[in-house]
Amino acid sequence: MGALADLAVIGGSGLYKLLDGATEHVVETPFGPPSDPVTVADVGGRRVAFLPRHGRDHRYPPHKIPYRANLWALRSIGVRQIIAPCAVGGLRPELGPGTFVVPDQLIDRTTGREQTFYDTGAVHVNFADPYCPVGRATVLRTAAAAGIEAVGEGTMVVVPGPRFSTRAESRWYAASGGTIINMTGHPEAVLARELALCYTSVALVTDLDAGVEGDHGVTHAEVFRVFAENTERLRDLLLTVLPQLPAEPDCACGGALDGIDVPLTLPAQA
Ligand code: ADE
Repeated sequence: MGALADLAVIGGSGLYKLLDGATEHVVETPFGPPSDPVTVADVGGRRVAFLPRHGRDHRYPPHKIPYRANLWALRSIGVRQIIAPCAVGGLRPELGPGTFVVPDQLIDRTTGREQTFYDTGAVHVNFADPYCPVGRATVLRTAAAAGIEAVGEGTMVVVPGPRFSTRAESRWYAASGGTIINMTGHPEAVLARELALCYTSVALVTDLDAGVEGDHGVTHAEVFRVFAENTERLRDLLLTVLPQLPAEPDCACGGALDGIDVPLTLPAQA
């Protein structure tokens, strides 16, 4: 398939649609179908794809999301840069509900998820800095210019879910350096890197996690309510950021596989 889009947004809980007047594309991959058909539309002169991570009806819980199919599908339609909004809990009292965080680090605590495309051969990508520095800087600069506050760094702890953490786990994650917590940030980020795609997480804090919150612990209802209250702010931020992303980002993401003998035929990039 030729290039339909060069930018993409993978929408999280509560963000199941982003683009008006979009065309819908059913994309097949060697890893099965992605979470949903991909929709594509023009945003400020750029071709943007949107894929709801959980499916438009939220049928995929975090541990069942077809992460490999999602990333492969986006690369196969020409995407090079991904902005990935998600709901997170705050592991620090100052990161309360409604805060945007653009994380720079990740701690994977998931188990049992398919987290590589390369089940044969020797493909070891550099993942020291899991997020695209150009995407992060663009989000932060655009947010500041639009008067939208965003915290410019953060360490995302990714837990298996679907349950929330105990208070002891939550305090342990915070003591280990985590500042925010969610269930979908891994393996999405590493699969993007394995396809040499730029990947930038935009986290919206929906709750204080159990170790910080002194009362009832985190509830499903709270997470979805706070996300819904902030969907318009998030949509505004995304639609403002997308046209600002450089067409040729000056980062190492696109060279992630340079010098590696990749045992798969990757979708051609236009
Ligand atoms: N997603 C939103 N809030 C969360 C939390 N507290 N823990 C894990 N995932 C979350």
